[in-house]
Amino acid sequence: MSDLLLGIDLGTGGVRALLVDGSGRVVAAHSAEHPLSTPRPGWAEQDPESWWTATVAAVRGALGKAPGCTVAAIGLSGQMHGLVMCDAKGAPLRPCILWCDNRSATQCEEAEATLGLDRLLELAGNRMLPGFTAPKILWCRRHEPDLERAAAFHLLPKDWLRHRLSGTFATEVSDASGTLLFDCANRRFSEELCGLLEIDPTTLPPCFESPELSSRLSRDAAARLGLPEGIPIAGGGGDQAAQAVGTGIVREGPVSLTLGTSGCAFAARASWPGNPGGILHAFCHAVPGTWHLMSVMLSAGGSLRWFRDEVARDVKAAAAERGVDPYDLISEEAMQAAPGAEGLLFLPYLSGERTPVADPHARGAFVGLSIAHTRSHLARAVFEGITFGARDGLDLIREAGTPIDSVRLSGGGARSPMWRRLCADVFGVPATLVNTSEGAAYGAALIAGAGCGMFDSVESAADAAVRETERIDPGPDASAYPAILARYRALYPALRGFFPRDLD
Ligand code: XUL
Repeated sequence: MSDLLLGIDLGTGGVRALLVDGSGRVVAAHSAEHPLSTPRPGWAEQDPESWWTATVAAVRGALGKAPGCTVAAIGLSGQMHGLVMCDAKGAPLRPCILWCDNRSATQCEEAEATLGLDRLLELAGNRMLPGFTAPKILWCRRHEPDLERAAAFHLLPKDWLRHRLSGTFATEVSDASGTLLFDCANRRFSEELCGLLEIDPTTLPPCFESPELSSRLSRDAAARLGLPEGIPIAGGGGDQAAQAVGTGIVREGPVSLTLGTSGCAFAARASWPGNPGGILHAFCHAVPGTWHLMSVMLSAGGSLRWFRDEVARDVKAAAAERGVDPYDLISEEAMQAAPGAEGLLFLPYLSGERTPVADPHARGAFVGLSIAHTRSHLARAVFEGITFGARDGLDLIREAGTPIDSVRLSGGGARSPMWRRLCADVFGVPATLVNTSEGAAYGAALIAGAGCGMFDSVESAADAAVRETERIDPGPDASAYPAILARYRALYPALRGFFPRDLD
């Protein structure tokens, strides 16, 4: 068997390992889960050691399905923004504080007030949001000062994993962009920002472009994974940038929407786009010398998972009996209700929100319930509320200068034909699918392929591997949605005063 690329994605729910050949074909895949801990409302943590255990299981599982293969290069991708504080040997000092943890809301307000929003946007290109890494460091300094003082390195999740794999401390531009210590326009950590926030820049690892080979598999890690030592490890990418590569968003043109736990709309940009008002995320792309604009909903699929687990609890057993996915049954139920769910609206801000409103205190809501509503209306309202939230993000990307003539869907949500149709109807432009469905791990493998010379560049890797397979045009229901969307958009301004400010 010829040389393969190993893509590893360190997700929030688990680690996915993929083996991909030089034509972009997935030869083997394996996943292993790791637990999530939510010690308080609004908090989310994970033990990095559990990532390592899952990585070993996922990689060994994939290798077991491709006996005799050789691996030319490894690409890493991962959940962005998380803070791993570790000692000089890479041992974590506390659990990782994750991207979806909102505890640092106060630190964000304080830092924005001290630095000024304009200055922050000039230096970092982005607002100080609790999801990002820098305010998490500031939270630790305030609440766990001894630990913070002892930290030799502040690492992102996949970069902690890189150290575990190679013994090397390194990061790359797409993930570093989400630390809020990074000068995204100039693609390097900002000494000035570090100085203003009093964060020692030597606690941040050297930064590479995504396909650059940053390190090599160490003897110890090689033995644990069942691979030879010395395999090169590319910089890789934050999960959204890697997902974009894996779905062919490598240059200006198509815009994508990934419907996972979070819901991210993503547009590649050939030059630094700036970020007026900081309403979007403006980050470096995993394609060297390019950037991207992104809107991030914190609870897209997350809202649906909540509905499955808390409102439609019986669905799991019914799905097991029929041998189908529980979400298929929820989609079926939602389809029984008409567009607009007979006046019922759902606001999907179950974990606070980043785009279109940067408000960690925001909460979800059902509004307009009547005695005539059934669970199918609730299900329809949840799907519609998430899709309206995604439309808000797409509109902001459009207003920032990216024309949108279709939206490429990916992530677990894109598996539902009903949701794909709803996206086309609500967005008012065609929704499309591509042949690749492996997302960030796949993008990480392609990035590694560009790094080791199997492909000429990240763009040519994606061009060789990704093509459009399905296009759904807006249908007859589309005309109903502008009025419903207008009612949805009035919800947050009307409700914001009711949300508790209980994150401190
Ligand atoms: C992107 C973001 C999430 C996480 C988890 O800014 O916060 O997509 O990377 O997947």
